[in-house]
Amino acid sequence: MTISLPHGGHLVNKIDLTCNTSQLMTEIEIDATALSDLELIANGAYSPLTGFLGKEDYESVINDMRLTSGDIWSIPITLPVSEEVAMTLKIGEKIILKHRTASYGVLELKEIYFPNKLDEAKKVYQTIDPNHPGVKKLLERPDVYLGGPITLTKIPDKIPSFLSYYKTPLETRDLFYKNNWKSVVGFQTRNPVHRAHEYIQKSALETVDGLFLNPLVGETKSDDIPASIRMASYEVLLKNYYPENRVCLAVFPATMRYAGPKEAIFHALVRKNYGCTHFIVGRDHAGVGSYYGTYDAQEIFSRFTPEELGINILCFEHSFYCTKCANMASSKTCPHPEEDHLHLSGTKVREMLRNGITPPPQFSRPEVVYTLINGMKYYNNQ
Ligand code: ADX
Repeated sequence: MTISLPHGGHLVNKIDLTCNTSQLMTEIEIDATALSDLELIANGAYSPLTGFLGKEDYESVINDMRLTSGDIWSIPITLPVSEEVAMTLKIGEKIILKHRTASYGVLELKEIYFPNKLDEAKKVYQTIDPNHPGVKKLLERPDVYLGGPITLTKIPDKIPSFLSYYKTPLETRDLFYKNNWKSVVGFQTRNPVHRAHEYIQKSALETVDGLFLNPLVGETKSDDIPASIRMASYEVLLKNYYPENRVCLAVFPATMRYAGPKEAIFHALVRKNYGCTHFIVGRDHAGVGSYYGTYDAQEIFSRFTPEELGINILCFEHSFYCTKCANMASSKTCPHPEEDHLHLSGTKVREMLRNGITPPPQFSRPEVVYTLINGMKYYNNQ
C-alpha cells in the first residue's frame, strides 16, 4: 500500500500569494465558512474542487453525490451573497474576496444562481428543521450563490494557541512519506477526546502504520467545546498514551456541517487528500440530536465502489466501557448486558465539564478531564 492519490487524481494548488489584485475594482465580503472553504479549496484539501460550485455541479452534488466530472462529492461548497450584492456583479469579472478588513482571494465569476435552499436542506441534511444547526446556518446565509474558480492570495490567520498544528495536504503527505508510513488512518472529531475515541483509534492503528488525528477547528455550534480546549486535551492524551512516532496531530480548519452521512463521505474524501489510506467512521458520525440513524453514516458508503472512493472506510460499532470485561468494547466483542456498560452522551459530558464535574476515568482519561475542566473554567471566566 502507498499513500492515497488525491481525489480526482492530483492535488489542487490555487495559492498565489504574489497575485496582484490592485487593478480589480469589485470586492465582496465573505463569511467565516466561505473563508475556510476558500483556503481548503486552494491548498488542495478539497481536491478536485478548484472553486465554488457552479449550478450544474451544485445540483449534481445534492442530487447524486457526484460532481459533473463523475467524481464523488457529497457536500455543496458554495459562495452565498445577498441579492443586492449579486445585482452589482458581472459574469466574467474578477472579484476580490474580503473577510472583515483583509482581502484573501479572487473569484473569477462564472455563474450567479438562486439555489432552492429547502431542497438543499432536504437532500444534504435530510431535514428542513431550522433547529438542525447545519440547516439553520444554510438558511441564515444569503440567498444567491456565486460559482467560479478561485485563487487564495493571503493565508487566513491561524488560532495562535495551536499554530504549529496547521498543515496543508502537501505537508501531511510529505510527513507521512518521511515517516515511511505506507498506510495512515484518518480520524475526524469535533468533541473532547474520550476513551471510546481512543479505543477505535488504537484498534485501527493496530492494522496500519500511522494515525492522522485531525480535529475540526472551524466553526462549530455554540455549545460544542471550544477548539483550543479540545486541542489541549488531544495534546495531553498523546503525550501520555500514544507512541510519538505513530501519530500526526493536525487541525482541520473547516466549518462543521452536522450533515451526518453526507458529511462522513466529505470527511473521508478530504482525509484522502491529506494522504490517508483509511478513515474511521464510528457511531453517528457528524451527527447531531437524533436526525440520523446510528450507522447511517457507515451504510451510505455502500453506494460507491472502493475504487471510486479511493480510501478504505473502517467502520466501528458503538463502543463503551464494560465493567464486567473491565475494558473498552462494543456489542461485537462484549457478551454482557446493557447495565454493565458505561454510556455517556456528548451532551451529558459537555454539561458535566461546564459544571466542573469530573466524568469517570472509564469514560475519559484523568489527564484529559483535568485539562478540559481547567480549560472550561478559564473560558467561562473570560
Ligand atoms: S463527529 O461529529 O466529529 O463525528 P465525534 O468527535 O464525537 O463527532 O466523533 C468522532 C468519531 O468518533 C466519529 O467517527 C464518530 O462516529 C466516532 N465515535 C464517537 N463516539 C463513539 C463511540 N462511543 N463509539 C464508536 N464510535 C464513536
